[in-house]
Amino acid sequence: MEITFNARGPSHQKALERVFKTQLGVDRVFFTTSCSSALDMAAQIIETGHKDEIILPSFTYVTTAMGFVKRGARLVFTDIDPETGVLDLEAVKRNITSRTKAVIPVHYAGISMDMDPLLALGREKGFYVIEDAAQAIGARYKGIPLGTLGDMGTYSFHYTKNISTGEGGALVVGDSALMPRARVIFEKGTDRYDFIAGIKSEYSWVDLGGSYEMSDFLKARLVEEMGRLETITRQRKILYERYRENFLGSGLRQLRIPDYAGPNYHIFALVFDGESRRNRMIAALKKQGIEATFHYQPLHLSPFGLKRGYSEFFLPETEAFARGILRLPLYPGLSPVEVDRISKIILEEWRNHS
Ligand SMILES: Cc1ncc(COP(=O)(O)O)c(C=O)c1O
Repeated sequence: MEITFNARGPSHQKALERVFKTQLGVDRVFFTTSCSSALDMAAQIIETGHKDEIILPSFTYVTTAMGFVKRGARLVFTDIDPETGVLDLEAVKRNITSRTKAVIPVHYAGISMDMDPLLALGREKGFYVIEDAAQAIGARYKGIPLGTLGDMGTYSFHYTKNISTGEGGALVVGDSALMPRARVIFEKGTDRYDFIAGIKSEYSWVDLGGSYEMSDFLKARLVEEMGRLETITRQRKILYERYRENFLGSGLRQLRIPDYAGPNYHIFALVFDGESRRNRMIAALKKQGIEATFHYQPLHLSPFGLKRGYSEFFLPETEAFARGILRLPLYPGLSPVEVDRISKIILEEWRNHS
């Protein structure tokens, strides 16, 4: 019998790798403590620095930006398409310069921008495409899983996501040339990966790195959750489509699903014309014991954004979208009858006040 130094080595890594290979077709993936840490890794992998510009939406979570801004990059907040809530390709094109190091499309609600033209631009102009697929596990672009199209892609398994490990994330590395650096950063700045692979006889500190790895307990949980992904997506679809049909023809604005998109039904949202209409709807639902909510405060208007002068960005679509968006309850366990009840309250309020 072979005797190892540590009897209890990680045991779920291989199973999880197999699941990601089978379900998403990827074999270069790091399982991380969160999507935030995966994004931080990505910023370090591409050697983000003071001379770099990063194009990203302002309508997103803070950690889409954090790893890049921490390393001195200039954030170039770019406006969104008001029909989908994701980066507007034409606005991206206008903001590309010789300093553009990366573009970060955030797949809001599990819907991406049109990725082919963005990926082609990245190849032509020499910038990285890093997908923030925090909300997009199980969603697709032209049949290909979101998060696996770009040079890198990041997922979240936070408890608010379609599948969850409580906290957790993953970094998919599409560009194989980035792997040697990614391995060192993941191994806390050491060449331990080469040591384990038998390439080196010992391992040493070789670069900067961090402690990004998901615990083995959560890896076991993620294997199970990935096994439920298809069923969960199907359950969410039923509820999503029920909302969609209930609001058809009412004049209420829903997010558009482009032809190329295979959604994962992460969010069902309505977009109102102005904050007061939206807030009135939140209050009407709250009175009936239903929690519905807005979403991100645009980063360029946040207290930190103001301090950094980001409020100078002119992003009218982003601002209107953030003021108008209302997310409705959507989770397996919610019944179609409850969806109808929520829809009825909204439709009544809408007819009485619009
Ligand atoms: C677009 C986006 N990016 C990143 C994150 C961060 O994910 P995590 O909580 O796994 O760090 C979130 C969280 O909701 C998100 O919505």
